[in-house]
Amino acid sequence: MYWARARSLIGLPHPVDSAASGAEPRLAARSVCVASGKGGTGKSVICASLAAQLSMRGRVLLVDADLGAGNAHILQNASPERSLVDLVKGTSEIDDVRTACGPQLDLLAAGCGVPHMAGLDPRELATIADGLRAIERDYQWCLVDSAAGLSEQTLAFARASDLVAIVTTPDLTAMTDAYAFFKVLLALGADQEVGLIVNRAGSEAEAAGVVRRVEEVSRRFLGRAPEFLGWLPEDATVRHAVNNRRPVVREDPHTPFAGRLLALAERLELRPARPRGLGSAMLEHVPPPLSAPSI
Ligand SMILES: Nc1ncnc2c1ncn2[C@@H]1O[C@H](COP(=O)(O)OP(=O)(O)OP(=O)(O)O)[C@@H](O)[C@H]1O
Ligand SMILES: [Mg+2]
Repeated sequence: MYWARARSLIGLPHPVDSAASGAEPRLAARSVCVASGKGGTGKSVICASLAAQLSMRGRVLLVDADLGAGNAHILQNASPERSLVDLVKGTSEIDDVRTACGPQLDLLAAGCGVPHMAGLDPRELATIADGLRAIERDYQWCLVDSAAGLSEQTLAFARASDLVAIVTTPDLTAMTDAYAFFKVLLALGADQEVGLIVNRAGSEAEAAGVVRRVEEVSRRFLGRAPEFLGWLPEDATVRHAVNNRRPVVREDPHTPFAGRLLALAERLELRPARPRGLGSAMLEHVPPPLSAPSI
């Protein structure tokens, strides 16, 4: 039996809990979930560069929430020895699942071709949430590289994040799915801030047109629209960076994509922070792991 699980079982707090250690309480990390209804909109590429950039000024935990088919490690040129699969299986503790990708950047890697991880049951999801809760105060930022779509576990990560950044492209299908994602979040009663990032835009005017369309339909049918967070251009250097396994901002910080990405990171840093803790907030919606069986 691993100690973290044993502690959960008998109701003892994790040793990093400040109340237990008597140390100065540390703020939870600010969490941002980069999500989209449609696949392939650029979530992982954006997360990789945001993580690299934000880690220049604070500790960042990058969570690959595409749990069954993650590739966040590729974009950081990392070869994780362990992943969240090991945590869920109970063969590793959360501390052993962290992979250092930079001086201030750690990754929780996902499974690679592990279908079971794409549809975890609530108790397995709670194991991940509990692990996050145990370490999230070690970081200033917790970035969630979400899976595409509207699965329950994808929505669990989104609902628990302080900010959900929905990524769309100018494609009509991506815009429609961005609206659908926003609609489902609101229907679930999600009360956090929701923003919109337009990726692969041909120009600022095209990005503005996308924002206008998503805003119009959202206000009309939902009475509220996601906040525009920024836009990123279509840029051939993105593919080169991906193929070189590097975040775009590291590959070449002078490209158009990197320039806009830096502006986006700055915008996130300037937002007022009210972090509630990703793992703690997730545990509000899923049962605790290994709780005593109900009779
Ligand atoms: N701004 C851009 N300019 C050019 N190509 C881009 C841009 N953004 C993304 N791409 C291309 O799209 C591909 C898919 O991006 P990415 O893997 O980040 O999408 P995703 O949303 O994470 O996909 P999935 O839903 O499968 O997780 C990248 O490998 C890259 O080739
Ligand atoms: Mg991805």
